[in-house]
Amino acid sequence: MTGQQEQKLEVAAAAAALVEDGMTVGLGTGSTVELLLAPLAARGLTIRCVATSPRTEEAARALGLSVEPFETVERLDIAIDGADQVAPDGWLVKGGGGAHTREKLIEAAAHRFVVIVDESKLVDAIAPPVPFELLAFGAASVLRALAPSQVRGVPRSPDGGIIADYLGPVDDPAALAGRFDATPGVIEHGLFPPEMVSEILIGHADGSVERRIAG
Ligand code: A5P
Repeated sequence: MTGQQEQKLEVAAAAAALVEDGMTVGLGTGSTVELLLAPLAARGLTIRCVATSPRTEEAARALGLSVEPFETVERLDIAIDGADQVAPDGWLVKGGGGAHTREKLIEAAAHRFVVIVDESKLVDAIAPPVPFELLAFGAASVLRALAPSQVRGVPRSPDGGIIADYLGPVDDPAALAGRFDATPGVIEHGLFPPEMVSEILIGHADGSVERRIAG
């Protein structure tokens, strides 16, 4: 049996092997992505990276990876990131680390978005909490519109937004995503639709890495 950390290491190594010389690469955020950076750097490829958070940017640079501002990269060949929940139909919940806004921007722009998770992230159905980021102006009104929701006690995002969590039922992820999208003041939410995802690498307790083609 392999534990959660080993499962993360396995999928991180499998994802690092997908990157090719000359690629532009979007780097996600979180403990699984942290395990991707070392094997990726060790390959010694000439790649240009864009990071979804200051934390990832710093860690990637420390390993010698070239990280550029998103604005200077015209296209992203691949983006690799973890997730908090993966539903059977391919819906994801992200934002456990509050980085989902930049993650969604970068991953939506990537030609191929690869999700890396250990099997604990597999769920039968998406459940709360669902993270979202909102403007400080009118925050109380937005939280009322999306009740039951609560502000998370964490620092603002690098873009100045407040990080909060929706705590109500998630019967239909597409409907809830539509509700977030239709609420003025919401900057971005952590529901990622199956259409955004190219493939999901899942580390299992038996040591295997399952590759699920999504989208
Ligand atoms: C960051 O805000 C999140 O979207 C992460 O990508 C997600 O929470 C997965 O993180 P772990 O790899 O630490 O579980």
